[in-house]
Amino acid sequence: MKGKMTIHREFSIGETDKRLYGSFIEHLGRAVYNGIYEPGHPQADEKGFRKDVIKLVQEMNVPVVRYPGGNFVSGYNWEDGIGPVEKRPMQLDLAWATMESNKIGLNEFAQWCRLANTEMMYAVNLGTKGADAARNIVEYCNFPKGSYWSDLRRSHGTPQPHNVKLWCLGNEMDGPWQICHKNATEYGRVAVEAAKLMKWTDPSIELVACGSSNAEMSTFGAWETEVLEHLYDHVEYVSLHQYFNNSDNDTQKFLASSVIVDSFIKTVIGICDLTKAKKKSKKTINLSFDEWNVWYHSHGANPERWVEARPILEDIYTMEDALVNGCVLITFLKNADRVKIACLAQLVNVIAPIMTEAGGSAWRQTIFYPFMHTSVWGRGTVLRCPVICEKYSAKDIDDVPYLESVAVHNEEKNELTIFAVNRNLNETLELESEIFGFDGYKFIEHICMSNPNLKAVNSANGEVVKPVTLAAGKFESSPGGQRLEAKLPAASWNVLRFGK
Ligand code: AHR
Repeated sequence: MKGKMTIHREFSIGETDKRLYGSFIEHLGRAVYNGIYEPGHPQADEKGFRKDVIKLVQEMNVPVVRYPGGNFVSGYNWEDGIGPVEKRPMQLDLAWATMESNKIGLNEFAQWCRLANTEMMYAVNLGTKGADAARNIVEYCNFPKGSYWSDLRRSHGTPQPHNVKLWCLGNEMDGPWQICHKNATEYGRVAVEAAKLMKWTDPSIELVACGSSNAEMSTFGAWETEVLEHLYDHVEYVSLHQYFNNSDNDTQKFLASSVIVDSFIKTVIGICDLTKAKKKSKKTINLSFDEWNVWYHSHGANPERWVEARPILEDIYTMEDALVNGCVLITFLKNADRVKIACLAQLVNVIAPIMTEAGGSAWRQTIFYPFMHTSVWGRGTVLRCPVICEKYSAKDIDDVPYLESVAVHNEEKNELTIFAVNRNLNETLELESEIFGFDGYKFIEHICMSNPNLKAVNSANGEVVKPVTLAAGKFESSPGGQRLEAKLPAASWNVLRFGK
């Protein structure tokens, strides 16, 4: 099978925002306790943070981590997680039916972020709490000194403000499963008042309004429309969440998940811009896709309740899951003009690219690699690359191209990178590309990840699924530019790198 891709230096979609490669850590399962934090582990530092986990997070190059939830945040009192650890209360976490000891809170997580070279994106509780708790935490985090909450922070050994720049106004408030779920009017009202107070406390912060929990919600569309009526002037972003699954064991359909993501993104952009027109506003609202991943392997597991740090949602990811995530990352890049933030949910142990064994090793799941590759090489100007290739129909989804691809030009580093998934499960895809405006560039390498067994997984015992370097294809001068020929194996994730 053949696929053609035209790349021209001048045809750009937009610049990537580094926060496209964000992730998420919730107080849930073994994400925090026995994940990033395991005192007594041979790799733990003096604060109890696992250095091996930090190293893997750094390898993924994650610029922002959403925290502390998720569903957890809608019942969370952030004040329980500050001050002397021995005085912090043991609370019931009603979202996940576990215990929360509050040993890790805001200041400890901020310390971990510094060690992991990342920034915190903080979600405030708009379930059981409201505007007052929200403005207090902004004051505690960001106000320099001289007020009650800022001085309390200083008395807790943190003289400098954390300067958290990005804040979510609650989590999935449209979902009936959410603690103190709200309808769009109720959410819009509480969120707008919280937003006002938070920005009056620190005008430099950016805010994310809750969009729909997924594109299948019965309120999808109506929710965004009403919420933005309330919040348009007060927020910079609206959130999207979406998880993918292969529950009906139809891999060809599963690999088309990113087509649904693309249409979800386009619809939300439409609603944002319609509201902009109705309000005659000059401001553009962008998108924060702040929860996304494959999630279904763990459904129905772990019935035990009220035990802290019990394993929850520990999906073990397959080769095909990595392909889906690769397609979704390419889709985010193709929408980089409006998708500014995206958070792979989650980062450690809970539906995560990084897994840990209590007292043992930390290891990379299959989905680690497409994320790491795009985060490392997918920064710069995203190029609009028309593709011609055969398409297929899957159940409920038509016109799915076998080739999913995009190119990113990093002008500073003089690098051009093509990310590509061959969705054909049986045939190699012969990629031909005419490339214009990159004279003097050479083929650096072709990294590829594939496995004849699409259900192959990694484990603490080793990485069955990992990238290899293939023999570079042809890359020659052609009239006006260069011509590339490369072979993309059946069902594969590919990174083709060029540079001066
Ligand atoms: O990431 C797991 C859960 O998925 C989050 O807590 C919630 O926001 C979403 O439903």
